[in-house]
Amino acid sequence: MNIQRFIDNAIEEIRQQVQGRAVIGLSGGVDSSVCAILAHKALGERLVPVYVDSGLMRQFESERIELLFKDLGLKRVNANEKFLKALRGVKDPEKKRKIVGETFIRIFEDEARKIKADTLIQGTIYPDRIESEGGIKSHHNVGGLPSTMEFKHIVEPLRDLYKDEVRDLARALRLPIEISERMPYPGPGLAVRIIGEVTREKLEVVRAANAIVEEEISKFNPWQAFAAIIGKATGVKGDNRVYGWIIAIRSVSSRDAMTADVMEFEWKILRQISSKITGEIPSVSRVVYDLTPKPPGTIEFE
Ligand code: XMP
Repeated sequence: MNIQRFIDNAIEEIRQQVQGRAVIGLSGGVDSSVCAILAHKALGERLVPVYVDSGLMRQFESERIELLFKDLGLKRVNANEKFLKALRGVKDPEKKRKIVGETFIRIFEDEARKIKADTLIQGTIYPDRIESEGGIKSHHNVGGLPSTMEFKHIVEPLRDLYKDEVRDLARALRLPIEISERMPYPGPGLAVRIIGEVTREKLEVVRAANAIVEEEISKFNPWQAFAAIIGKATGVKGDNRVYGWIIAIRSVSSRDAMTADVMEFEWKILRQISSKITGEIPSVSRVVYDLTPKPPGTIEFE
């Protein structure tokens, strides 16, 4: 791919496709960030980037993103309660994905209405489309979209690219390293890293465990490394029996997320992470390491 040519064409294409104003969902991941920069170059102030604080994000994510994109006129929408309410009692993974996708879209629609925008720009990339179309999972910026939307146009400038190409673009556009080299993060966020119902308590636990896993494993350059809550188990802490959360650590290498290998670590490292998680999060009673490649597993748990 000729990067400069791609950038020029994408800007031109966005200009042609968008009349009036547009909204872009900016999550701070590499795909939506690159997309927002291209769209901003194409549309200037006719673009409103919206960051939705869904409560499903990583630790300190909202503050970080607000700071990084303040020059683009970022609009932050606090929607923690809205997402929790929409997800209450829902256990089925595909239903959870659809609910998160729909809640995001309804928020983007609300924001678009305020500024009379009828176009939604999204950072969907090729593997997202393939996995959704193939019926593997509804990736929330594709298959998770509700069937009726107020938006007249959806513009997806990165739809034919793989992740490594998006990273090349991010470097060429001089995005900070913490974005260009950032691990992929699923649109439905922590909701797909909690097996079963999403609750406030589980979100807090998995967010804290995830921060520890990212901190300890990032230096080994994984494609992705994260924590998930996969159930409950009995344990002892101090003199007490606890029926606590089981945290699974997942760390994989991959080229494009279509397939993935499990990363191998010395026991010492895994043990360190395990004791940090059980030590710092009182309600976790057990930590396991996921040994499943993709296929047959997927990268995320749901
Ligand atoms: P799976 O779990 O299907 O994930 O092996 C493949 C890659 O896609 C990420 N992922 C998502 N990305 N919206 C996204 O933008 C989604 O709904 C979504 N679900 C999974 C996942 O983190 C992995 O990198």
